[in-house]
Amino acid sequence: MNSLPPVCDYEGSRYQEEFWERGQRAYEDACEAQTLRRLLPRSGRLLLELGAGAGRNTSRYTGYDRIVLLDYSRTQLAQSRERLGDEPRYTYVAANIYRLPFVDGLFDGTTLIRTLHHLAQPAEALIEIRRVLAERATFVLEYANKHNLKAIARYVLRRQTWSPNSLAPIEFAPLNFDFHPQAVRAWLTQAGFRIERQVTVSHFRVGWMKRALPTRMLVALDRLAGTTGDLWQLSPSVFARARAVGASATANGYFQCPACGGSSLEEVALVHGASGLRCSTCQRLWPLRNGIYDFKEAIEV
Ligand SMILES: C[S@@+](CC[C@H](N)C(=O)[O-])C[C@H]1O[C@@H](n2cnc3c(N)ncnc32)[C@H](O)[C@@H]1O
Ligand SMILES: [Zn+2]
Repeated sequence: MNSLPPVCDYEGSRYQEEFWERGQRAYEDACEAQTLRRLLPRSGRLLLELGAGAGRNTSRYTGYDRIVLLDYSRTQLAQSRERLGDEPRYTYVAANIYRLPFVDGLFDGTTLIRTLHHLAQPAEALIEIRRVLAERATFVLEYANKHNLKAIARYVLRRQTWSPNSLAPIEFAPLNFDFHPQAVRAWLTQAGFRIERQVTVSHFRVGWMKRALPTRMLVALDRLAGTTGDLWQLSPSVFARARAVGASATANGYFQCPACGGSSLEEVALVHGASGLRCSTCQRLWPLRNGIYDFKEAIEV
């Protein structure tokens, strides 16, 4: 797996607590909740939540029968499991978005919220995401928009050197990218998606406004401002609902070995009551530890 793009490592991070719970982001969180309500289908069979983190959004995916939470960080998944519990409705998977451990055409829905901005090769990731989706599956994507009003104003006033108008991603910190909406739309189309709707979000992400005005009011105004999302995108965060177009393979199985692509994985018992999935093609053994299927590193037996 050495040839894969670098991953922004959240292992051991206190992201949920520091960024959301202590970061005064009730406004952003409520805006995202209302946007998800707007964009998600009422019902679905199997949803793949990519970059699920600590499961902040998972309970918002009410229409789906089952949800697979996937994240590269085992500790983020452990936090989401603590939050959501071990209901059969949830499956926890540690894996890399660039090499998803599922057979083609498996899911009828997927979300990628606040995670595209960590991907150095977004076009590559979107192709891999399309692979595991059934025909007409729904994809709800959020990305950080470089062509936002604040960046445009700073550029015009010469307080920022990079141009918000160029289509190239801007890496403002290591493995943290802002994207141009036009570039994201082109990558989605190339990967086999058709955009149905765009919603601009978090228009009022300004410290003094958040302090001075009631959150409920700002969230209501954000909803109103977001209705023009198909016409222009000038907010720091943009959501898009896309549909998987073109043919998909009929899913045959569930997990797929991320190392060799084999789709016959058999459950095996290990010592001390642990278990894992053995790939019958390459014989690698992927552990199931503390309720999390771990496809980051095969174990030696
Ligand atoms: C900013 S957090 C967002 C978490 C959650 N979606 C939310 O909105 O609260 C980004 C998450 O993406 C995960 N991530 C980043 N790159 C990844 C990759 N290549 N494969 C899987 N997960 C990845 C990180 O581990 C982290 O949990
Ligand atoms: Zn294998």
